[in-house]
Amino acid sequence: MKAVQFAEPWQAAVIDIDRPVPAEGQALLRITAAGICGSDIGAYRGTNGLVSYPRVIGHELCGVIESIPADNPRGLKAGDRVVVDPYLYCGHCYPCRIGRTNCCTDLHVLGVHVDGGMAEYYCHPADMLIPVPEELTDVQAAMAEPLTISLHAIHRGGLKAGEYCAVIGAGPIGLVAAMAAQAYGAHAILLDLVQERLDFARDLGIEHTINSGRENAEERIREITGGDMAQLVCECSGANPAVRATLDYVSNAGRITLTGWPKKETSLPTDVITRKEVDIRGARTSAGEFEEALELIRTKRVDMTRILTRTVSIDEAPATIADIEKNPGNYMKVVVTF
Ligand SMILES: NC(=O)c1ccc[n+]([C@@H]2O[C@H](COP(=O)([O-])OP(=O)(O)OC[C@H]3O[C@@H](n4cnc5c(N)ncnc54)[C@H](O)[C@@H]3O)[C@@H](O)[C@H]2O)c1
Ligand SMILES: [Zn+2]
Ligand SMILES: [Zn+2]
Repeated sequence: MKAVQFAEPWQAAVIDIDRPVPAEGQALLRITAAGICGSDIGAYRGTNGLVSYPRVIGHELCGVIESIPADNPRGLKAGDRVVVDPYLYCGHCYPCRIGRTNCCTDLHVLGVHVDGGMAEYYCHPADMLIPVPEELTDVQAAMAEPLTISLHAIHRGGLKAGEYCAVIGAGPIGLVAAMAAQAYGAHAILLDLVQERLDFARDLGIEHTINSGRENAEERIREITGGDMAQLVCECSGANPAVRATLDYVSNAGRITLTGWPKKETSLPTDVITRKEVDIRGARTSAGEFEEALELIRTKRVDMTRILTRTVSIDEAPATIADIEKNPGNYMKVVVTF
């Protein structure tokens, strides 16, 4: 079967490997759609320190069940369409014991620590598959994974209707976080340095956008919020200055979630954290958020088709990955279809 593999950084190819055989407790899936993620581009560049090589990528997956153990918890059977929860956890470390499986001390993410599913077939634990509502296309279902990341940022920040939610970074994760914030009845304020990305967001109906390279973002947020500042700030850029700026944009008694992965550490004025009494929380991958993501997509409360740039075949995937790396501004989301 075909699979998209990075032999090493800058080496993406479609390779021919044996169709996998399910181990105990696993289902065999025929993959129908697999999203290309910013983290795949990081793996291609060799800048994601968690990735080891060679590596088959792919963690945003929709597929059809070929075989599955009969005793699986959701009663799934051959022929059912599912999405893959791609964060494998140990089940017995402290975070796993309290249900925070996404911060397992031995977390294995598909396409990062273990081979992923950008391949014709893939084996995955039967209890980590979520059924896809009939109305969704395979491509929409594959885009549930990035929505879970954005939802996790919002859940970790306890966003409530009526609040102002500033989101830094208008890439797929931040843009979708802003869409999800609005689906929650909050007022989204999306910040980026790239005007085209902000224009795109405005076209999608994001209420407020700020070009923080050209405008005084803190002042704009003060105006928009009637002086309160943002009750929740979601950092979705991974840029050190943006991490620092969260403390300027947040309200007193506000919350900050950190989803972006900076490459270096950021120094922060901790006196501001104390003075404003801010809650700062990390937000890593997602946990138990796939059902909600699929439902938000089904009801079009978050219309993921709006961020789809194009679909490509598996044979086109390596050249597409190289082009996304070279011209990131031309792409928001690309999904490989089989
Ligand atoms: N925590 C997790 O589990 C998780 C999962 C997926 C992605 N991420 C991280 O989330 C971040 C966003 O992912 P993405 O795929 O949307 O990335 P992306 O690169 O497509 O988007 C980042 C956006 O941030 C903007 N930006 C850069 N510097 C900025 C600054 N100083 N101020 C405002 N905007 C700025 C860029 O112009 C870009 O539009 C990345 O750091 C990624 O590694 C984290
Ligand atoms: Zn992803
Ligand atoms: Zn664990």
